[in-house]
Amino acid sequence: MGKISETELDRQLDVIEAEFLCSKPIELIEWKDVLHPDNMTLSAQNKLMSKTINSSEFKSRKTKLSHRLRFLRHIIDTLERQNVDIEDGLYEIYTNLLQNSDNEVEFCKIYKLIEFQTSVCLPHSDEIIKHGTTGFYTWEASCALSEWALANMDQFKGKQILELGCGTGLCGFVIHRTCDPKFIYLTDGNEMVFNELIKTRDINYVEKGAQNLDIQMLDWYKINESKLVETFTPDVIIAADIIYDNTLFEPLSRTIETFFNKSKNCKLYMACTVRNEDTINEFLNILDAMRFKRSEEEPVAPTHIYYNNATPIKIFSFVK
Ligand SMILES: C[S@@+](CC[C@H](N)C(=O)[O-])C[C@H]1O[C@@H](n2cnc3c(N)ncnc32)[C@H](O)[C@@H]1O
Repeated sequence: MGKISETELDRQLDVIEAEFLCSKPIELIEWKDVLHPDNMTLSAQNKLMSKTINSSEFKSRKTKLSHRLRFLRHIIDTLERQNVDIEDGLYEIYTNLLQNSDNEVEFCKIYKLIEFQTSVCLPHSDEIIKHGTTGFYTWEASCALSEWALANMDQFKGKQILELGCGTGLCGFVIHRTCDPKFIYLTDGNEMVFNELIKTRDINYVEKGAQNLDIQMLDWYKINESKLVETFTPDVIIAADIIYDNTLFEPLSRTIETFFNKSKNCKLYMACTVRNEDTINEFLNILDAMRFKRSEEEPVAPTHIYYNNATPIKIFSFVK
């Protein structure tokens, strides 16, 4: 840790910005040389604040209040310990945050994809089950599938894509923002999740609107009534963390089969969090019996999107 050039400081600040905005735990943030006394000039402190706590990336959309407080506390403590002059503004921001009454349960995670010069902002809940659904939480499998997509963009470029059980929509939005698909439908079967997705789309596509992207209700139990089946022929189906409840396997496999029947060359990419091998195997056996050919894809380490990868996640591809 030591003095670094302005360019290197900017590069390290960009990484901290991305890590902060997606709520990476403070103790895991890659501070590198940023908080070194020789680098944390008053103007560098202001820059750090404008990229993080005061970020205007998505206007008033903010990360969780306790995350912002912990982040700032860490900076102030580290600088005080090193007897670094601290910009008055930092204390002011901290005291303002302490008086803030932001909702601690609902907040945003902003996934800033530095290399791709784009970001996705998702309202997020810490409650893994809310209003009786798991669709308000961004699950690790959708982060893993997003990373995989960023490393395999040619699989999605120019393709008609359908996401099943998309929840907060991370994977679909990331693919839309980076992989240049012909069209992408983000679908979910829960009406409240669907309504939230519409809001998320509006937050993320303010200027030009969301071209080549649409949100639809698609309940696997009602696949026979779905208009999407008549109007849309996907080349690629994506799905993350939808293999957890074996009562859903029958309608889900029927939904997959229905779309595959429309296009012989359709491909399914599915990211599965392996909480219970038996549950995953039960679903794989159903698809095997339906004559889907399966491969397990090479995992991609979290590089652009931070997520907790303590529980193993497998990515399978299926063709007919
Ligand atoms: C564990 S969440 C995964 C969400 C998202 N893919 C992710 O990884 O963050 C499961 C999702 O499947 C959706 N789902 C559950 N049953 C469904 C059904 N019958 N039809 C369509 N979607 C369903 C839920 O609403 C929820 O959004």
